[in-house]
Amino acid sequence: MTSKLFPYYSYVNISLIIFLLWLQTPIIQAHDEHQRKTYIIYMGDRHYSNISAKDFYLDMLSGILESVPSENTSDYLLYTYENFQGCVAKLTEDEAKKASRMNGVVSVFPNRKKKLHTTRSWDFMGFSQDVERSAMESDITIGVLDSGIWPESESFQDKGFGPPPSKWKGICQTSNDNFTCNNKIIGARYFRADGEIPEGDIASPRDTIGHGTHCASIAAGGVVNKASFLGLGQGTARGGVPSARIAVYKVCWTDDCWEADIMAAFDAAISDGVDVISISLGSEEALPYFEDTIAIGAFHAMKHGVLTSSSAGNSGPSLHTLGNIAPWLLSVGASIIDRKFTTQVKLGNGMAIEGVSLNTFEDDDKTFPLIYGGDAANKSYEEPLLSRYCLLDTLNKTLVKGKIVICDLLVPGEEPFLGGAAGVIMQDVEPHDHASSFPLPASYIRVDDAARVISYTRNLTSSTPIGTIKRSVQVEDTPAPFVVSFSSRGPNPISPGILKPDLTAPGESILAAYSPVASPSGVMGDQRSVKYSIESGTSMACPHATAVAAYVKSFHPTWSEAAIKSALMTTALPMSSATNEEAELAYGSGQINPLKAIDPGLVYDVGVSDYMKFLCSHGYNETAIRFITGESSCGHKRSTNWDLNYPSIALPTSLGPFDTVFTRTVTNVGSPNSTYKAIVTVPRDQPIVIKVQPSVLSFKSAGEKLSFKVRVYGTIGMRALISSSLVWDDGQHQVRSPIVVFNLS
Ligand SMILES: *[C@@H]1O[C@H](CO)[C@@H](O)[C@H](O)[C@H]1NC(C)=O
Ligand SMILES: *[C@@H]1O[C@H](CO)[C@@H](O)[C@H](O)[C@H]1NC(C)=O
Ligand SMILES: *[C@@H]1O[C@H](CO)[C@@H](O)[C@H](O)[C@H]1NC(C)=O
Ligand SMILES: *[C@@H]1O[C@H](CO)[C@@H](O)[C@H](O)[C@H]1NC(C)=O
Ligand SMILES: *[C@@H]1O[C@H](CO)[C@@H](O)[C@H](O)[C@H]1NC(C)=O
Ligand SMILES: *[C@@H]1O[C@H](CO)[C@@H](O)[C@H](O)[C@H]1NC(C)=O
Repeated sequence: MTSKLFPYYSYVNISLIIFLLWLQTPIIQAHDEHQRKTYIIYMGDRHYSNISAKDFYLDMLSGILESVPSENTSDYLLYTYENFQGCVAKLTEDEAKKASRMNGVVSVFPNRKKKLHTTRSWDFMGFSQDVERSAMESDITIGVLDSGIWPESESFQDKGFGPPPSKWKGICQTSNDNFTCNNKIIGARYFRADGEIPEGDIASPRDTIGHGTHCASIAAGGVVNKASFLGLGQGTARGGVPSARIAVYKVCWTDDCWEADIMAAFDAAISDGVDVISISLGSEEALPYFEDTIAIGAFHAMKHGVLTSSSAGNSGPSLHTLGNIAPWLLSVGASIIDRKFTTQVKLGNGMAIEGVSLNTFEDDDKTFPLIYGGDAANKSYEEPLLSRYCLLDTLNKTLVKGKIVICDLLVPGEEPFLGGAAGVIMQDVEPHDHASSFPLPASYIRVDDAARVISYTRNLTSSTPIGTIKRSVQVEDTPAPFVVSFSSRGPNPISPGILKPDLTAPGESILAAYSPVASPSGVMGDQRSVKYSIESGTSMACPHATAVAAYVKSFHPTWSEAAIKSALMTTALPMSSATNEEAELAYGSGQINPLKAIDPGLVYDVGVSDYMKFLCSHGYNETAIRFITGESSCGHKRSTNWDLNYPSIALPTSLGPFDTVFTRTVTNVGSPNSTYKAIVTVPRDQPIVIKVQPSVLSFKSAGEKLSFKVRVYGTIGMRALISSSLVWDDGQHQVRSPIVVFNLS
């Protein structure tokens, strides 16, 4: 008998009814299944080491799960973690509540999504190809938690590399894909708790999005000459630490990045023995520290001496837009390098307008008719007036085909592209400080210029309005680094007394390796296949900082996570509040400065017990802190938020007088005998006084720690911010901490 697929109800008969009756129980359960969601149960530090993790969680789950036969419990346990206590399970809302009340549970939260925060840059920072390198560099492994990697890229060739560092314990998770590791990419894994591989992706560490390949090559790609994005930005593409190794943890898929997988990747990276973690993704909004897998993962990485470098987010320039803000993370904003890409628009009346974009399409001086999106509505769309913004489904394809469409918004260009347009001219009120790629010829012009283009297009009656979008050209930009508009701004939404972002690194128009199967514009159907692409985002800033952290670690392998971070922050190039309105809330300590970072003189070190005190001051439940940190108790003295030995000082305050004393401790990592003097810089026209006590620090040995107090007092107006700084100077090192007082109400 052959079997065919038919609608099953065509077989109604007695046996089917019996069959359905028999199915009844499972059907009810299946209904129950729909109520179940994936939850992460976080229980802090690893404290049950004497039993198998799996048995422990199965036992725990069997007490939580309702109406599930105990022999099926394991079907509901998706992950167990090793370097910290916790698991991922399929629970109903009630079961999740029950779990959160259990002894030892710190937090229970749903498996939410995070998003990717989508080189000449090194030379711009004075970090040339021939800087001094440590022989240790090739012993450093950078763990990149992202969308995977394209292992065949020239940037990841392993010529001249020896075998992986002896402490390396990672694996190369190959599958039916042809993915292979080498002595450059020494580890690669992928994480997908639900096992459901989304469309357009593959069950492999292979990158189909391009983002992970780009970030990994910014951090540790080899030197590749004559790289370019289809001829744009031609030059040498290289990572900051070209001799370092890469370990790939694919947590982002074509449907974004899931929390359970991010936490599993941190767990694996810690076990594998990475030295620095780079993570260029985050939530749309800041989450409480122990409900955010990046904060949790980075906390446990920190306990193993591993620094996590993260992107600050792309939701600027508004205030309060930061994503990754835990004090044990390095939070990196994006600054601009000294070049930009401009794209000229020429009209039939001889007008030439300069816009920005990355237009790789040859123009051949060919002209096309122009049409304003507002005059090309698809009338069957419910809101025809929206066609002026060229949003998806709003344009009449018949009208835009073969023409250059003018849109009143900066859009990904998908709608004109799908309509067969010859090009798109866009406008928006945002500052024109970043260039994006589009799937068709495109330029992004100023609002007043756009008004002239629209006027020409709509009022010309004697002939057809025509125009050309030229191929982009590279121009030198203003030398001063400033923070790009999209980079997220502070203050820190959870701990306003901890200044975030920590610093900035180049994140605009960065040339780096790409996945040849990914769309360079991010729009489906873009047929261009590239080995190198130019991308922008705090995503690109983060791996720059990761590389500098690895560079510092290659000279100082024993330094703690906080010491490395301090070195990066106190040596950063100060930026100016004259060119950056949000000042420290946009750039933190300033732009990262790799050469200075290896010799900071002094560091502000922080250990687990300091972070524990910080969490205590945050009002975290003492029992929970004990689970998380493994340390005994908060102690009697309640410290305040700003007592954390952070390398920068932030004082959120309200209108009127303020007066606060900060305590800090520095560790001497410079010459054993050295004397540092405090140099305070305050703005002349602001009522602020900063007193440092003592104002001289004399060190007698390496590793010696000395404490001092900083009293900051004065008055502040409405919606005001006062930028000042403290520099410890021994004539050779300038150890700088920004001091920012702000009142945002
Ligand atoms: C594991 O160790 C803890 C504390 O030492 C103890 O209370 C517990 O009974 C042990 N569990 C097993 C299964 O041995
Ligand atoms: C490996 O497979 C990918 C597609 O999955 C293909 O594009 C690539 O060329 C293959 N590489 C090698 C070296 O065979
Ligand atoms: C699209 O434009 C054509 C030409 O003006 C017109 O005939 C057609 O009705 C329009 N269709 C819609 C859906 O707006
Ligand atoms: C108008 O929109 C409808 C619905 O999206 C689409 O089916 C139709 O092809 C569009 N017509 C034109 C002319 O673009
Ligand atoms: C702290 O959390 C534990 C469980 O983790 C709970 O038993 C205790 O009541 C909580 N204490 C406070 C003060 O909320
Ligand atoms: C540091 O100074 C002390 C005395 O002030 C001296 O004995 C010692 O040799 C010096 N050490 C170095 C390394 O210069």
